[in-house]
Amino acid sequence: MQQHHDRKSDPEPEVHLTTRKATVSDAEGIASVARVLQIGDERPPEAGQTGFLLWAQEPDTYAERIEHSGLFVVAQEGDQIVGFIMAYPLSTLVSLSESMRYEDKVLKLFQEKYPPTLVYPDQIGVLPSHKRRGIGGMMDQELQSLCSTDEFATVIGHAPIRNLASIGYFTSQGFQFVEEVQQDDWTLGLYERNVMYCP
Ligand SMILES: CC(C)(COP(=O)(O)OP(=O)(O)OC[C@H]1O[C@@H](n2cnc3c(N)ncnc32)[C@H](O)[C@@H]1OP(=O)(O)O)[C@@H](O)C(=O)NCCC(=O)NCCS
Repeated sequence: MQQHHDRKSDPEPEVHLTTRKATVSDAEGIASVARVLQIGDERPPEAGQTGFLLWAQEPDTYAERIEHSGLFVVAQEGDQIVGFIMAYPLSTLVSLSESMRYEDKVLKLFQEKYPPTLVYPDQIGVLPSHKRRGIGGMMDQELQSLCSTDEFATVIGHAPIRNLASIGYFTSQGFQFVEEVQQDDWTLGLYERNVMYCP
């Protein structure tokens, strides 16, 4: 016999938030998060408060990067992807760079300064509805648990828009500003965590 539920008296279902290594089947969900966070060519200065992605990718590209890097993390609530960190070792970034048409000045700087094992968080995003709930921090913990090194470096937009959300986030996770790099019409801040310099 069919069961009828009184929806009003049903308890709210518990929804668990988890973080884990991404799989190729997450690519669509990751691209949906990225799409929401991308700013267009008009580059509104107020986007610095909320944070923004400059280069959201298509699902196929995220799938390819997941296949190439063991350092791609997602946050999931129920069956929905609500956040991601796309990171890779510098050696993987170098090998992917041709197909990525990656900004070469940043790549050159990284190759000069850092060992091939250094981890480069390339993109991080959390759905606007889920921000400031510690999900970015949880994903960073998950990422660190997957890494065989403590050394990290990334770049963050400083101008024409200063990505205050990203700067606030990365510095809260222990990254420190090192120098600025000019890449096309963007001034980018280079930020490091636990980088060991040989004397
Ligand atoms: C950056 C981003 C991933 C942070 O995710 P999040 O889940 O909201 O981060 P958390 O809740 O873990 O925040 C950890 C700490 O980061 C800092 N932080 C997070 N958002 C911030 C903001 N908008 N402004 C200033 N500091 C911020 C705070 O110190 C925060 O701790 P608190 O909430 O106790 O004050 C999220 O804002 C985002 O998706 N932004 C859009 C995309 C983006 O800018 N990506 C970076 C460039 S690739």
